[in-house]
Amino acid sequence: MHTADKAALITGAARGIGREIARQLAARGHPVVLLDAHAGVMDAAQALCDEGHAARAVCLDVTDEAAVKELPDALKDLWPSLAIVVNNAGISPKHEGRKREVMDMPLEEWRRVLEVNLTGGFMITRQCLAPMVRTGWGRVVMVTSQAARVRTPVPGAHYAASKSGLAGLARILAGEVARHGITVNCVAPGRVESDMTAEVGQALNTDLARTIPLGRLGQAGDVAAAVAFFTSAEAGYITGATIDVNGGNTML
Ligand SMILES: NC(=O)c1ccc[n+]([C@@H]2O[C@H](COP(=O)([O-])OP(=O)(O)OC[C@H]3O[C@@H](n4cnc5c(N)ncnc54)[C@H](O)[C@@H]3O)[C@@H](O)[C@H]2O)c1
Repeated sequence: MHTADKAALITGAARGIGREIARQLAARGHPVVLLDAHAGVMDAAQALCDEGHAARAVCLDVTDEAAVKELPDALKDLWPSLAIVVNNAGISPKHEGRKREVMDMPLEEWRRVLEVNLTGGFMITRQCLAPMVRTGWGRVVMVTSQAARVRTPVPGAHYAASKSGLAGLARILAGEVARHGITVNCVAPGRVESDMTAEVGQALNTDLARTIPLGRLGQAGDVAAAVAFFTSAEAGYITGATIDVNGGNTML
């Protein structure tokens, strides 16, 4: 497999898990496109270029339908070689470090979470499938969550619904695009150290870590390694599957 001929697009890649996924895929030789709504994505891509990798940045909100439709033009020469898409962009709103319960949740907040985490993933994936269909080879990976699999106390219902939705999208899409040589899989992280999880405070994260069989929170690299496996040639007969990356916190 010539990874240099297979470009990868990673959403939510300005920081955290997405940035590490981009780094690991770049290290495997893939040209990478780091996409994020935050301008910090420029620096993240530049850092990879400075390490000698082929990386580009796209500053874009995954909910912006018009901007998503312009992606082929924005990436021009790279677009035909797009072979991997990782839907990692996500939000999990907290208020003073805590979720809002359903009875207190404004519809606007519910809609925004569904729009970013689920509809954004749908729009990005739909846009990126054409070059994969043309070459007959593709990998789609959804970064879902433990909250898509079991009841978890920290994130809100909108977050769990959106990630469960992303898993449903993956399942149906996997069946639809298999004939084109495209696999669609999910990576479901448990609690991973990042800016997102820092919002609830150190004390809660330390308490949660004590309940995890492997005795620590996850690192971005733990999640990225599972994503990288799904994008590999070796994983070509695996589709519609989920890898749980949670230190044994949930064993399904
Ligand atoms: N950290 C965890 O414990 C954990 C656990 C399970 C799942 N996840 C999932 O992993 C993914 C990455 O999480 P993280 O901890 O690195 O979070 P993070 O908040 O550190 O990073 C998320 C990135 O997504 C970007 N983003 C948000 N909304 C966007 C939009 N509309 N368009 C484009 N980019 C957008 C942000 O700017 C940010 O760079 C998320 O989907 C999250 O739900 C994280």
